[in-house]
Amino acid sequence: MTILNILHYPDQRLRTKAVPVTDFGPELEQFGADLLETMYAAPGIGLAATQVDVHQRIIAVDVSENHDDPHVLVNPVLTLHGELQETEEGCLSVPGIYEPVRRAERITVAARTPAGDEISFEADGLLAVCIQHECDHLEGKLFVDYLSSLKRSRIRKKLQKQQKQRA
Ligand code: NI
Repeated sequence: MTILNILHYPDQRLRTKAVPVTDFGPELEQFGADLLETMYAAPGIGLAATQVDVHQRIIAVDVSENHDDPHVLVNPVLTLHGELQETEEGCLSVPGIYEPVRRAERITVAARTPAGDEISFEADGLLAVCIQHECDHLEGKLFVDYLSSLKRSRIRKKLQKQQKQRA
């Protein structure tokens, strides 16, 4: 297992649009395992390949308490259902910031596994929120984009200050 380096906002690489995966198999399965391991170590409940500077359409999520419900979704396509509901979100690329975001309450997910098998399932609650958040990353979009520009600029300044202090 390898713990991968997570990019932090406002790193412009987080704005890259990911391309569809075409090569499935052992190498992708290894990357999926590394993505999950990196997410658990952070610790977090979701991580997109974009966040570790790999610009292919792969996300890892596990919203269980005991790390026993891992999903690695490749080329995910979402269908949104139901009303919008507001949930407080955070992001491993925006450390220490939590803000409410409105998203669809239920989704249908079509994707492939890293081995290339087609899967489809429905999700609601935190899992639905998390998958929508991670799929945004693949488009180069961050949860702070849903906030006011004033709030976003405050967050950017705060994180840039923290990054300078660490450097
Ligand atoms: Ni995120």
